[in-house]
Amino acid sequence: MAPSTVTALTGLLSLLHLASAVAVPSHPDNLDSRQAACAPLPSASKYPTYSQLPLQTTLPDPFLPLAYTTTDNAEGSANFAQDVMTGKGKNRIQTREDWYNCRQPEIIQLLQEYQYGYYPDHSKETVKATRSGNTVNIEVTAGGKTGKFSATLSLPSGASSSKPAPVVINIGGMSNNPYLQAGIAIVGFDYTRVSSDSNAKTGAFWDIYSGRDIGALAAWAWGFHRTLDALNATVPEIDPKRVGVTGCSRLGKGALAAGLLDKRITLTMPMSSGVQGLGPYRYHGLSGQDETLENSKQGAPWWSDNTLGTFVNHAQNLPYDAHTVAAALAPRALVIDQGTGDQFTNSKGTAVIVYPAAKAVYDFLGAGDKIAMSLRSGGHCDMSGYDSVLPFVTHILQNTTLTKNYNDLGSYGSPMTTAFPWATAVPKPA
Ligand SMILES: *[C@@H]1O[C@H](CO)[C@@H](O)[C@H](O)[C@H]1NC(C)=O
Ligand SMILES: *[C@@H]1O[C@H](CO)[C@@H](O)[C@H](O)[C@H]1NC(C)=O
Repeated sequence: MAPSTVTALTGLLSLLHLASAVAVPSHPDNLDSRQAACAPLPSASKYPTYSQLPLQTTLPDPFLPLAYTTTDNAEGSANFAQDVMTGKGKNRIQTREDWYNCRQPEIIQLLQEYQYGYYPDHSKETVKATRSGNTVNIEVTAGGKTGKFSATLSLPSGASSSKPAPVVINIGGMSNNPYLQAGIAIVGFDYTRVSSDSNAKTGAFWDIYSGRDIGALAAWAWGFHRTLDALNATVPEIDPKRVGVTGCSRLGKGALAAGLLDKRITLTMPMSSGVQGLGPYRYHGLSGQDETLENSKQGAPWWSDNTLGTFVNHAQNLPYDAHTVAAALAPRALVIDQGTGDQFTNSKGTAVIVYPAAKAVYDFLGAGDKIAMSLRSGGHCDMSGYDSVLPFVTHILQNTTLTKNYNDLGSYGSPMTTAFPWATAVPKPA
């Protein structure tokens, strides 16, 4: 393992927005508070390769820091991988404080290394926004380069600067009317103008950051974040502290990245998101047409960074899975849409494995009511998904009373607990 590089981490974490958006159980907002006592993290590109990580057939223990997951910790034990998988690894996170100070920032760091690419330093960006009616033009400059795109507003009736509406920012379009009727603003931007969905890497993001090893999912996330900056600056009818982000399928993967990489996002709403979203890399064949690391990386290599490609055919050596991504959002809210008739993504895997495994962490943090599984009938990206999540959205963004049960796995039955055996040994917070 490379030596501890807390300074590199500190630099990276300063990129992330630190403002807290919702009333949540108290935790340090400042990710820079990661203590020297935390497990060491390697510097960028010095992370363990697949061959230095144990093969884990079940979902990795989210409480075990990366430094204690690598095979050099085995000390000759033949049971090392088994111990790591079952929550018997050494030096697991034990307290909520250590989760927020050490493990959560570590996960955000390691996901950038292994999957998303390193998100740009927002402190080096200047954002200029102008509004013309329902169009907001956004111009971002960094390092002498400029990228431009625009967002479109739909405001609910009655929204004003004295009574600002919460907002859902989406890419790819959504079902607007029920949201507007509920008093929620809808904002969209053309994601292809931020980053092409191709290896061409064109668009506002690449106009500034061409040549960087960053995936389109993180580039689209950046589009959400810069849109929020622009809304905050030019649209007083929108409350920038009550913000949902959404998209479906590959755009759901992007919305998940948007929620992960900016703490201003109150509610993350990935719809039918699949692998590289909230579909598991492990247990990929439970339903749908078997989307995998391999076929997603082959079909659309530009979604992620190049490092993820080094795990092709070694997905079970990844030190994380989709539940780790979800858990790193806590205590901010997450609602997960999947349709039982989705022929493409692994709805069952998301519902019976990823959701309950992530919820074990949310529960540990005292935030179990902030994660919701919205399982519905219908197929991939069926617009009914937006109706299905709406009661949870209004609950989070408008404090409506929640009457719908979002802990219901429907015909899938109950969680597949054999897929996350460490959950029987979740630390008890003091
Ligand atoms: C909105 O802009 C103000 C002024 O720059 C800033 O203090 C605040 O943190 C911003 N809020 C969000 C949610 O970005
Ligand atoms: C949310 O609603 C509950 C009652 O349903 C109320 O007790 C609480 O004060 C409300 N919170 C906010 C922030 O309005």
